[in-house]
Amino acid sequence: MRERGEGTVARRGNRLSVPLIANLTTALETRDPHLRGHCGRVTAFAEAIAVRLGWRARRLDGLRLGGALHDVGKLAVAESVLRKPGRLSAAELAHMQTHPAAGARLLGTIEELQPALPYVLFHHERWDGGGYPHGLAGEAIPVEGRLLAVADAFDAMTSARPYRPPLSVHAALVELGRCAGSQFDPLVARIFVAAWQAGELVVSEPLPVAAAF
Ligand SMILES: [Fe+2]
Repeated sequence: MRERGEGTVARRGNRLSVPLIANLTTALETRDPHLRGHCGRVTAFAEAIAVRLGWRARRLDGLRLGGALHDVGKLAVAESVLRKPGRLSAAELAHMQTHPAAGARLLGTIEELQPALPYVLFHHERWDGGGYPHGLAGEAIPVEGRLLAVADAFDAMTSARPYRPPLSVHAALVELGRCAGSQFDPLVARIFVAAWQAGELVVSEPLPVAAAF
């Protein structure tokens, strides 16, 4: 796997959005330390799946944009919730779960960022319909969201939280397999596990997202 984020969005010359994305991701990481390096890793994981699905360059550009911006709606989430060291209360969780729709509203009027929208809006939907914000199920969830959901969950599981240590890669892959067909699109989950087992992915020290993009 090449260095995460290397080239990526900038490569195909979206000159306006490169500094915009860097500023947004810096703002996100400043407000939520849990996000440090997260967007870059999720993008790299998602890209490995997309390559196996045969996605071409233009679609991969959209993926990189969407991976970089998928949590941008957390700019609208209270810092006290983002930085809370323990588990969230039901009300705090509901507030946190506004971030996909908030992100879509934030980007919705910026024409050149439209390819990011399905990633931003649908990355917390679940295959079984139990996700948010729309509770879509199966293939009614745009594939961009299904793909990012697997990459996002894997990174979350293998990252430390104040209330739990990181899961090992092995344990996270087992969990992906266990939740294939309930939380995750089974095909996407299977492809991710296969890509990992083929050595196409590694977890390394997180890079600052602003530097990667
Ligand atoms: Fe998210």
